[in-house]
Amino acid sequence: MTETPSSPASEEPRRNFMTKALAVVVGSIVGLVPIIAGAITAIDPLLRRRNSIQGTDDDGFLKVTPASSLDASGAPRLFPVIADLQDAWNKFPQTEIGSVYVWKNDDGTVKAFTARCPHLGCTVNYKPNQQRFACPCHDSSFNLDGSRNNDIPPRGMDPLEAEIRGGDVWIKFEKFRAGVHDRIPV
Ligand code: FES
Repeated sequence: MTETPSSPASEEPRRNFMTKALAVVVGSIVGLVPIIAGAITAIDPLLRRRNSIQGTDDDGFLKVTPASSLDASGAPRLFPVIADLQDAWNKFPQTEIGSVYVWKNDDGTVKAFTARCPHLGCTVNYKPNQQRFACPCHDSSFNLDGSRNNDIPPRGMDPLEAEIRGGDVWIKFEKFRAGVHDRIPV
């Protein structure tokens, strides 16, 4: 028994079906493109670092204060660190992100420490009469070089890179994990 070739009339419905199926597939793909693009746009901020600091230079330094506002006698002075913050979707202009003690060395360079106590994060005070830093929360105490005076804090105060540029003090501001011996940026 010989096979009879299918007639053009019987192939027509199959061709129509294939054409429609192809159109559905292509249409679906084209329709998904804007949806996927929209989803990527929506979650992109989440993929970026939260609360990033804006306005730093390429090396991460921020302008903190005019050098003229440093204490003339060379004593540490407390300054707020102000910067624009950016989280996943919002900007927070001119936000205080921390505070630092800054003072001049004899050679004209500057020294800076974060004012955050490495014990549990309170702000330390400078005691000019004793030339040391003291934390009001649990009595941590630190020397002018940042070393600790007692065993309450797990490490000394956290030093920050600082320099004078064009009459201003620039600081590479960082925060470090409190309560641990190692200096771990957070
Ligand atoms: S937070 Fe400073 S001593 Fe505890």
